[in-house]
Amino acid sequence: MFPLQRNRRLRNSSAIRLLVQENNISVTDFIVPLFVVEGKNIKEEITSMPNYYRFSLDLLVSEVKEIWDLGLRSVLIFVKVPESLKDNEGTEALNNSGLMQRAIRKIKEITPEMVVMTDVALDPYSSYGHDGIVENGYVVNDKTVAVLAKMSLSHAQAGADFVAPSDMMDGRIESIRLELEDAGFFNTGIMSYSAKYASAFYGPFRDALDSAPGFGDKKTYQMNPANRKEAISETLLDIQQGADIVMVKPGLAYLDIIRDLANETETPIAVYQVSGEYAMLKAAAEKGWLNHDEIMMEQLLAFKRAGASLIASYFAKDVAKLLK
Ligand code: PBG
Repeated sequence: MFPLQRNRRLRNSSAIRLLVQENNISVTDFIVPLFVVEGKNIKEEITSMPNYYRFSLDLLVSEVKEIWDLGLRSVLIFVKVPESLKDNEGTEALNNSGLMQRAIRKIKEITPEMVVMTDVALDPYSSYGHDGIVENGYVVNDKTVAVLAKMSLSHAQAGADFVAPSDMMDGRIESIRLELEDAGFFNTGIMSYSAKYASAFYGPFRDALDSAPGFGDKKTYQMNPANRKEAISETLLDIQQGADIVMVKPGLAYLDIIRDLANETETPIAVYQVSGEYAMLKAAAEKGWLNHDEIMMEQLLAFKRAGASLIASYFAKDVAKLLK
């Protein structure tokens, strides 16, 4: 009781504030998303994601070195697949010399210690822009899962440390886990997008990969933003099926979900601060309406406070530079 307790005592100097600070942002919390394209000498800015780029493999080399030198230790690869290689079955996803598989090998060659994670979903490969195989206008579950399992194995064979299924099909974690075990890849991790919402925040990402759904939306597989309990059951199921890391996506609008999962499970929780979140801050900062670095750090800290231990973020390099 006042004046015995004066809460402001612990805020009285920067040193005291830091001593009692409950959460911190560290460069090793981050997963850096990478967009890879075919071709040579390509570094093209994504219009709706200022200062974020698509790289061809040759230019990816120096980018990955820079990421490593900044102290960042994990990347998450996405590929932009040429239109001519897209089909309904995602055939190209299983090509052992496909762009994804070459990107994995390349990064492992340059930075063998980098934790390489890979996106597992059919949308970049799908002529329909959906995360799975389409039959009669519906994304079918079990046939898709069979492809995702083979795709995961192909990534593991190329050297991926973690596969990251972002598709939200039922039962895919178990199928992927069994496929990897059968082939002897018992140390390949699975980071499951376990609570992934059908969100309008993914817009800029779909520009980046040219992967917007050709018809309809993703609401028959991604979660309804109105739901909270469902995130817990989705996530617990994925853990039972063999997920090593679970994920909430998007980030800022779903902090309650991160906290729910942190209370329900001991499995590490990742959060994906998605493209739309990045675009919003870049746009506001460009206009001079918000302070870029302060807002960036405040949002990231909120993820840690909510209970996330890993953060996939397009700000990863900005943060690493700021912390240096
Ligand atoms: C697709 C995928 C998406 C993102 C990651 N993987 C888009 C979608 O589900 O439509 C979004 C990432 C972002 O917006 O930054 N499997």
